[in-house]
Amino acid sequence: MKSLIVANWKLNPQTKREAEELFKKVKAGIKSAKNAEVVLCPPLIYSPLFKGLALGAQNCCSEEKGAFTGEISASMIKSAGLDYVIIGHSERRKYFSETDELINKKIKLAIRVGLNVILCIGETAEERDASKKTLILKSQLENDLRNISKDDMKHISIAYEPIWAIGTGNNCSVQETTTSLLFIKQTINNLYNRETADKTRILYGGSVNGENSGAYIKEAGANGLLVGGASLRADDFVKIVRSAE
Ligand code: PGA
Repeated sequence: MKSLIVANWKLNPQTKREAEELFKKVKAGIKSAKNAEVVLCPPLIYSPLFKGLALGAQNCCSEEKGAFTGEISASMIKSAGLDYVIIGHSERRKYFSETDELINKKIKLAIRVGLNVILCIGETAEERDASKKTLILKSQLENDLRNISKDDMKHISIAYEPIWAIGTGNNCSVQETTTSLLFIKQTINNLYNRETADKTRILYGGSVNGENSGAYIKEAGANGLLVGGASLRADDFVKIVRSAE
């Protein structure tokens, strides 16, 4: 399967001009990439400016429609031509109090309208120190994927993002990542079956850059990467895409 490389621009860059410039450089740089599937998730307001690369949203509303000021629905995202949505990012869980129940609702809505979902899971430093990592990952998977069928799993990728590794420069070691990715695969096997576990792409995210990216794909067995900070630097992001080829 092709590696899935996702750029999560978060709340950046601050102007349309900078966004267009970054997009132009990234697009030119990855033109020849054949073996990696690249998805850019810019702030939604910029997405109509970008043609020629697959796009995703960083979030969607947990409601389908109606009086929810400031929200964007999964069907709006799909009908605007985007194909992916990131759901359950730790920043949404932390700063916007998103629960597993809400995340589960969002995933169901996204799948129903035909979006591909990148579901983020991961433990905090405290949970890891208390040897609760696998407990947390298992509970997030069980609750976030509640009542989601084997068939729906074809449209879901899982991004393992240890929270302590996000934006800190303290990326997870290849060895620890390998173990965590295997644990996630095993949990999907238990929730569904071996075939679903084998076909579900499991990504790594957390301080990925052009220097460390290749090892996650080639050594830890990640089926892709979710890239934050480094996706705002065109050269670094292009390097990451090439390392996954
Ligand atoms: P980072 O962010 O690459 O800046 O650590 C990853 C993410 O939050 O998806």
